[in-house]
Amino acid sequence: MSNSHVKFYSGENIPLELHKTRIVQKLNLVPIERRMEALYEGGFNTFGLKTADIYLDMLTDSGTNAMSDEQLASMMRADDAYAGSQSFVRLHQAVKDVLDKQYFLPVHQGRAAENVLGCAYIRKGSLIPMNYHFTTAMAHITEKGGQIVELLYPEAYKIKSSHPFKGNINIEALEEYITRHGKERIPYIRMEASTNLIGGQPFSIENFRAVRAIADKYSIRVVLDASLLGENAYLVRHREKEFKNTPISEIIKIMTGLADIVYFSARKLSSSRGGGICTNNETIYKELEPLVPLFEGFLTYGGISSREIEAMAVGLYETQDETVISQSPAFIEYLVNESVKRGISMVTPPGVLGAHVDAMEICSHIPQPQYPAGALAAAFYLISGVRGMERGSISNQRDEYGNETYADMELLRLAVPRRVFTLSQIMYVLDRLTWLYDNREMIGGLKFEYEPPVLRFFMGKLVPVNDWPQKLMAKFKEDFGDSL
Ligand code: F0G
Repeated sequence: MSNSHVKFYSGENIPLELHKTRIVQKLNLVPIERRMEALYEGGFNTFGLKTADIYLDMLTDSGTNAMSDEQLASMMRADDAYAGSQSFVRLHQAVKDVLDKQYFLPVHQGRAAENVLGCAYIRKGSLIPMNYHFTTAMAHITEKGGQIVELLYPEAYKIKSSHPFKGNINIEALEEYITRHGKERIPYIRMEASTNLIGGQPFSIENFRAVRAIADKYSIRVVLDASLLGENAYLVRHREKEFKNTPISEIIKIMTGLADIVYFSARKLSSSRGGGICTNNETIYKELEPLVPLFEGFLTYGGISSREIEAMAVGLYETQDETVISQSPAFIEYLVNESVKRGISMVTPPGVLGAHVDAMEICSHIPQPQYPAGALAAAFYLISGVRGMERGSISNQRDEYGNETYADMELLRLAVPRRVFTLSQIMYVLDRLTWLYDNREMIGGLKFEYEPPVLRFFMGKLVPVNDWPQKLMAKFKEDFGDSL
């Protein structure tokens, strides 16, 4: 059962919470004047904001999903042994039971898995075809001399679409690419479940099966980034006919069964901390194993605290529970559909992780070199206290010659971490987003004041190109008076 199964007598489509809140955290909705100061202090980069100045933190779902009572309880029995910890035995069992993989290597988070895989398989000139890159995945591949190749169908780049699986890799292009460049240069094909940067869009099992067939034909490994696996499985169940009656637990196993290597950020999958790499192939395991004590920690903790290892084990089992995994996609669907009704351009169909606002259209008056998505993220924080994340050109890295590479999509991501927010908070987001949309012409561009050499979106500092934030604040005060 999931919240999508509960009908209201009124006929309204309301995503009903199937959990209750038992531990709460006070939030800070500070006045707009303070929010303006915070923006300048944080370099007009929402990563630079502090939660003391934030009302709803919609930056990410990474490490911010709510933990369950069972997870918290499990943390109390953590076994802190450096080697051979019972906590690890329990986690290893969860990996076998849920992901159906016999060999498991813990790492401190998702990008650590990307580092280990890169060290093992990527050499100068390696080519990694994938459905779409994630920032850290790409950074680790290029840092080791490899190159990524994104092979999506044109539909994936359409913001407004009704295609249920925009994360599908382009099968024809994949085979053509392999025959053109030769399988020797391709250590693996990477499939990202619920493709993060194009709006949390899933791929179908039909598509993944086709990838497997090509990989078998050319003897190339398949790597699955399973950080958002539960949500992808949930959408497969609801969007792919063949799996309408298949339990999430089965869909997950079908998906992991099609990959030689599965890696994940446990900050997302399982709502805890940490990450991991798993496989059923002993040779692969032996190739990766030595890198874990080198970079992460001993094989039974991998840089993760034992408490988090316990929570991760429980969280993996909970990923199979549709009442857990459906909550975030159901809220996202509500937020996206209600925004679209108000004329706001959003990535559709609704995906997972968050609602994605189309900055390219909303800020069409801001040229891409002035970062429309970054500007929209800053403006939205200013007028609401809600922190989203830029997922556009600021999140892109410069090419090897130092030139800007502009993103295919300029998005403001409003993450909806699992079981964290209430529906009235989502309605507040909708209300302030609508106001900003109606005043969109007032949003102006940004420019870098400090641009770090790698993953610039994290530490970069920007400034507005003129006094647009002050004018926007004045309009807010005119319309809202003393309201926060
Ligand atoms: N792969 C995907 C698909 C991710 O979304 C992330 C992280 C990672 C790998 C890296 O994992 O953070 O544990 O090192 N995504 C976060 C986000 C940061 O906000 O979307 P990590």
